[in-house]
Amino acid sequence: MVQYDFDGTTAVVTGAASGIGRQTALEFARHGASVVVADVDDNGAAETVDLIADGGGEAVAVHTDVTEMSDVERMVETAVDEFGSLDYAVNNAGVGGAQEPTGDLDEADWERIVDINLNGVWRSLSAEVDHMVGQDGGVIVNMASVLGHVGFQNASAYVAAKHGVLGLTKTAAWEYADDDIRVNAVCPGFIETNMLEEGGITSDEQLRQEIAGRHSQNRLGEPEEIAAAVVWLCSDAASFTNGEPLTVDSGYRGI
Ligand code: NAI
Repeated sequence: MVQYDFDGTTAVVTGAASGIGRQTALEFARHGASVVVADVDDNGAAETVDLIADGGGEAVAVHTDVTEMSDVERMVETAVDEFGSLDYAVNNAGVGGAQEPTGDLDEADWERIVDINLNGVWRSLSAEVDHMVGQDGGVIVNMASVLGHVGFQNASAYVAAKHGVLGLTKTAAWEYADDDIRVNAVCPGFIETNMLEEGGITSDEQLRQEIAGRHSQNRLGEPEEIAAAVVWLCSDAASFTNGEPLTVDSGYRGI
């Protein structure tokens, strides 16, 4: 099993109360980082903290709604106050949202999905670089999606937001390279999490099989397989990787 030396470092993970974010938080702790578990779901966040403690790691939860600038600022302050630095940040919080053709989508639904999935990444990134510029750099990973590369019917707000996350990532990578901050994105294929259950994909066996068949290995991915890519991007093994939309999708074939 790969082992990085993250001892004495601090990682912030948004959306870490479940799914990919929780697994990423656990993976950071396994490599020795202290973790700030940031989420709107306080119970789920507390469970993630307990799981990290059970494994001998160190973590705190901080209530964070990524649609609120003051919340993401507090998240960064928590990392510094509790653990002394902010070295890695994973902007992972996201929602699937309404499933409707573009013309039928309610304006409020569009705004909510974009506000969490795109604006939330910008708010988080903005607060993180503010701190990292004043220290010895850092690494930021934004959670995009394979739907940041291709379309998907009835999910235009989500798809547009994820395409936007890639544009933001590529731009910020150039802006902060001189400050020793690397900014990358991960673009997962379809992963077994609550998001797919809530979106009715994993609960509908026929749809699940159809979606699985768009991946070369004819299955959905596991959160662990995305967390591994995130920590690799944060490690020194990825020291020349910047502005990269790292796709982890088993060769997904979309529209
Ligand atoms: P999940 O539903 O298990 O986790 C999402 C987390 O984000 C939850 O803990 C939720 O409470 C939190 N969250 C939602 N709104 C928030 C807000 N306003 N502020 C702070 N936290 C908030 O889903 P999953 O799959 O783990 O999603 C994580 C990320 O991965 C998302 O950005 C998603 O778009 C992305 N992704 C997921 C894929 C999948 O197939 N599951 C595929 C590609 C990308």
